Amino acid sequence: MWLDLRAVETRLETQFVGQRMVYLTSTSSTQDVARDEAEKDAPSGTVVVAEEQLSGRGRFGRAWVSPSGKNLYFTLIMRPPLQRLRSLSIIAPLAVAVAVEKCTGISARIKWPNDVLINERKLSGILIETELSGQSVKYALVGIGVNVNFEIEEASEVADIATSVKRELGHEASREELLAALLNQFEVLYETAARGREVLQEWRSRLATLGCQIKVTFGGHVEDGLAEDVDADGNLILLRADGSRVAIEAGEVTLRS
Ligand code: BTN
Repeated sequence: MWLDLRAVETRLETQFVGQRMVYLTSTSSTQDVARDEAEKDAPSGTVVVAEEQLSGRGRFGRAWVSPSGKNLYFTLIMRPPLQRLRSLSIIAPLAVAVAVEKCTGISARIKWPNDVLINERKLSGILIETELSGQSVKYALVGIGVNVNFEIEEASEVADIATSVKRELGHEASREELLAALLNQFEVLYETAARGREVLQEWRSRLATLGCQIKVTFGGHVEDGLAEDVDADGNLILLRADGSRVAIEAGEVTLRS
């Protein structure tokens, strides 16, 4: 069944996030459409949502499996000031985790920096693409994919590592309810994050990565260590075997536990 946009709109409690929605039954990637929209001065908070993506993409050039009518694939166009740009990669997974919990009662955790996990399997992925103009942000494209009613077993490429709300609940869930809850939560967190450390702390408390021995690949080399903590910018503090520490920025790394 196609997404009922009216049902999403009636649940929205936002000032700007999702107040304009561009809906497509099929597209290459919502990131591409959102980029065009942003270049044409679409307002901050515009959401591009698609039923299906023919070339859905993830971080590090990976593909994002995007079958039709099952899941949520959308990109949020944001125009934050430069100093708030990095908070998007904290807010987005947290909004997904909180919205999933509100709608389903299932608790979700975050794999640093921004994968959302249920029972250690990936439920949602986030891809943030940014366009800068000098020292200011022209726009940021916050792409969010959530496996909602996906039969994971049918997608051999992710069957062993991914999950969906349906798989966890044992029955289908409302994509409309989840999308509205997610957009509502995103706006609340975006506004709250501007005022203090509360959002960072909530994100930190959901990180499944902390305390784990991990291997990170960044800047062309691999580091092993203990994921000790995150700093005020959301960087991961890795404690190496020799006792030294290194701060690792999100976006630069692939991480294996
Ligand atoms: C990842 O985990 O690697 C990030 C996955 C991001 C997927 C979303 S789906 C909506 C948007 N459009 C895309 O092509 N990608 C993002």
